[in-house]
Amino acid sequence: MRILVIGGGGREHALCWAIAKSPLCQALFCAPGNGGIAEVAECVPIAIDATDALVEFAIAREIDFVVVGPEGPLVSGLVDRLEAAGIAAFGPSAGAARLEGSKGYMKDICAANNIATAAYRRFSDADLACAWIDEQAKPMVVKADGLAAGKGVTVAASVEETKAAVRDILDAGRFGAAGAEVVVEELMEGEELSFFVLVDGTTAVPLTGAKDHKRAFDFDQGPNTGGMGAYSPASSLTPELEARIMAETINPTVAAMAAVGHPYKGVLYAGFMLTTEGPKLLEYNVRFGDPETQAILMRLRSDLLPALLASRDGTLAQLDLKWREGAAVTVVMAANGYPGDYEKGSQIKGLEMAGADHRVEIFHAGTNRTDTGLVATGGRVLNITALGSSIEAARARAYDAVGKINWPAGFCRSDIAAR
Ligand code: AMP
Ligand code: GLY
Repeated sequence: MRILVIGGGGREHALCWAIAKSPLCQALFCAPGNGGIAEVAECVPIAIDATDALVEFAIAREIDFVVVGPEGPLVSGLVDRLEAAGIAAFGPSAGAARLEGSKGYMKDICAANNIATAAYRRFSDADLACAWIDEQAKPMVVKADGLAAGKGVTVAASVEETKAAVRDILDAGRFGAAGAEVVVEELMEGEELSFFVLVDGTTAVPLTGAKDHKRAFDFDQGPNTGGMGAYSPASSLTPELEARIMAETINPTVAAMAAVGHPYKGVLYAGFMLTTEGPKLLEYNVRFGDPETQAILMRLRSDLLPALLASRDGTLAQLDLKWREGAAVTVVMAANGYPGDYEKGSQIKGLEMAGADHRVEIFHAGTNRTDTGLVATGGRVLNITALGSSIEAARARAYDAVGKINWPAGFCRSDIAAR
C-alpha cells in the first residue's frame, strides 16, 4: 500500500515509524513531516490545512490510505474530502470530529446520553453567563467552544476570574470565531487520566491509558504546554476502571454518534477526571495524543497499519491487538524559552549515540535537516522514548539517552514519570 500521513510533529513521527515497519507498507509519504520523519518517509512540503493540495497529491501519487494526525484538518473535513475522492482515510468525518471541534456539542452529547461529565451551561452572551456564574458563587471552568490550539480552557481560582475569562472570550474575542460561544462548567477535582480507543463506527477497542505532564517545569510548575512528557501504562487504569469507562462513557458515545448520523471512526482520546464519584469525562480529542502516542506506540507489539485500516473499514471486532509487557516513557526536549518565545535554528548533536539502544526511539517533533546538520525548528523538538520492564526502568533509560544529547539550547523536565 501507498500511505500518506498528515502532520509534522512527534506524534506523526511515531505514526510513520510504526507504519514504516508494516509489511503492508510499500511507500510512505508525510506532509509536511520533519527532520526525523524524513528518515522513514518521503516528506512533501504541503501544509496540513491545504486541503485541496493534499487531495490532489493523494490522487496524483496514487495513495491508498491517508492517516490524519492533527485535529485541525479532521474538524475541517479532510477525511470527507479524501473519501469523496475515492481515497480511504483514517480519522473521523467533520461531523464526528465535532466531539473535539465544539466543546458545547460534546457536552450536549454527554447530557443526552447520561455520560458523566462536569455540569455545564453554554453561553454566547457574556452578561447572561456572568449572571449565572454569580448565582453559582464558586470558581468554575471556562472553555472556548471551538479549537483554540490547547489554550481555550481557564480553570479559574475565583468567581471574578471565571467572569473575566468569559468576557475575554465573548467580548474581547480572544479566540475569534472559535470563541463565539463558551462552555462554563463545574470545576472537578481528582487525578487525570488519558484513555485511548480505536473506533470503527460501531465497535470501540481500548488501546491503553497514558498520562502526560502539561506544565513546563519540574514539580508541575510554570505555564501549560502541549505536554512535556508522558508514560504508559497509567497505574490508575485498573481493568475494572477500564471496563467501567468503556461501558459508561465510550460505548454510549459511539452509539450516540451513530444514532445522530455521524458514526465515529478513528482514534478517540478521552480525558477523565477520576473524582470521588467516579470517572468523569473532561474532554474528547478526535486524534492521537501528543506526546502520549509516542509512548503508546512503543508498547504496541502488533502491526499498527491493519488496526488503522480496520478502524476505517469497520472491521475492528476482528482485531486482536498485542501489547508488550512493561512500560514506556517519553521525555520531551523543548527549546529554551518554550512555551514562550524561543530561538530557532540551534544545532542538535549526539542523537545517534543517544538512540543506539534498541529500546530507545528518538521521535522528532520540531527539527529540520540542513547542510550543517540537524537543527531545532519548533518549541517541542525531540521526544526521547524508552521501553522498560517497569515505569522506573523505562524512565531511567529515557533519561540516560537524554544525557547523551548535545543540545545546549534545549531543556527538559527531570521528573517525567517520577512519583
Ligand atoms: P481540556 O482541553 O478540556 O482537557 O482542558 C484542559 C485541562 O483543563 C484539562 O486537562 C484539565 O486539567 C483542566 N480542566 C478542564 N475541564 C476541567 C474541569 N471541569 N474541572 C477541572 N479541571 C478541568
Ligand atoms: N498531550 C495532550 C494532547 O495531545 O492534547
